[in-house]
Amino acid sequence: MKTISSIEEMQFFSTESKHKNLSIAFVPTMGFLHEGHLSLIENAKKYADIVVVSIFVNSKQFAENEDFGSYPRDLKRDSELCEDKKVDILFIPEVDEMYPNDFSSTVKVSGIDNHLCGISRPDHFEGVTIVVAKLFNIVRPDTVIFGQKDYQQCLIVQKMIKDLNFPINLIISPIIREVDGLAKSSRNKYLNEDQRKQATSIYRSLCFAEKQMKEDLGDIDKIYKEITNLLKSNDAEIDYVEFKNAEDLSPFKHGNKHILLAIAVRFGTTRLIDNIIIEV
Ligand code: PAF
Repeated sequence: MKTISSIEEMQFFSTESKHKNLSIAFVPTMGFLHEGHLSLIENAKKYADIVVVSIFVNSKQFAENEDFGSYPRDLKRDSELCEDKKVDILFIPEVDEMYPNDFSSTVKVSGIDNHLCGISRPDHFEGVTIVVAKLFNIVRPDTVIFGQKDYQQCLIVQKMIKDLNFPINLIISPIIREVDGLAKSSRNKYLNEDQRKQATSIYRSLCFAEKQMKEDLGDIDKIYKEITNLLKSNDAEIDYVEFKNAEDLSPFKHGNKHILLAIAVRFGTTRLIDNIIIEV
């Protein structure tokens, strides 16, 4: 595995690879890798000759009151994990090079950001799209792998790829869970012992809803009530519990083939998200 931190060197590597007709699959991350990320890397290998993983904790996608400063970082461990997974290139750009003092561009994908996390984290997705657009121009991947856990992010990046004509195929990889169902997340480490147990109520809610939707599609209100009761009885502070059309996040309607149930809750100060796509 080669580690690159210079943007110019990364671009040079990508251009050389294209000349050699070698395809690139790319996994962008903010580091503190867990099995969810490792599954994205495994998936990436199926799509290309070369796998590039980036680690960059992107300040632009965190609001002032969020956890940018304390976001977990462990480059040494991340680098060892990537080496074990036989990643070809680990790209760790410098903040000053990504965002020099005179940096002034934005990329906004309007519409899909008006829902779910876009409401509680108003500038978050603009921060994501600017960094992802930059990374696409630097890494020049043929395929990019994103995790379903950030489903809204997947749809927004997909729309950006289409609108801005990036020649990139986006693959959505399934959510990886702990044995008790909690979705793997770098933020799970903030949970204390009680919160960790309570947090399993998220996955229990998703499973309950899926079962009910398949049996009794008509009664969304009843399912919603049951889920929010379950979450609240586990001390979860609800940010949202929403049923959406999984294609475009428009409001759920009977007749939608793929229904997204998305949940965002706080246990103490830790905000967790999860979702399920229910086929009906
Ligand atoms: O999903 C993430 O980890 C981040 O939003 C991403 C895509 C790496 C951009 O910073």
